[in-house]
Amino acid sequence: MKFYIATDHAGIRYKDFVKELLTTRGVEVEDLGPYTPDRVDYPDYAQKCAQAVREDSGSFGILICGTGIGMSIAANKVKGVRAALCHDAYTASMARAHNDAQILCFGERVLGEGVVESVIDAFLNTKPEGGRHTGRVEKIMKIEE
Ligand code: RB5
Repeated sequence: MKFYIATDHAGIRYKDFVKELLTTRGVEVEDLGPYTPDRVDYPDYAQKCAQAVREDSGSFGILICGTGIGMSIAANKVKGVRAALCHDAYTASMARAHNDAQILCFGERVLGEGVVESVIDAFLNTKPEGGRHTGRVEKIMKIEE
């Protein structure tokens, strides 16, 4: 399992914490930046991560900004990508089970570290349910055409 991770300046304090969580769970992580706490524009990093996930079939992404909102809006502009803004373990597991999301977005200003850990575990441990959800996900992707 491979994850790409990126943040903006409002999400960078959680980047190393999340990388460590993923690594201890045996997940390969590639850090797409930023690498300093200077102000940056979240769409640049959302695009970088979403394109990496699109080009590396079967991979996943994590995007963190202040709220997670800007990252999710921007990442969903990249064709083929389904990015989900999650606030708890329930939304993270549904993002995988029902929406087959490849990118998990959340806000550093919204979630505490304990909740982040449960969100990541729910996202890692849930598989797409398929069945009636498959056609709905296909309909989402058809909107891009
Ligand atoms: C940065 O101040 C903030 O706007 C950004 O991190 C994010 O929350 C946008 O959606």
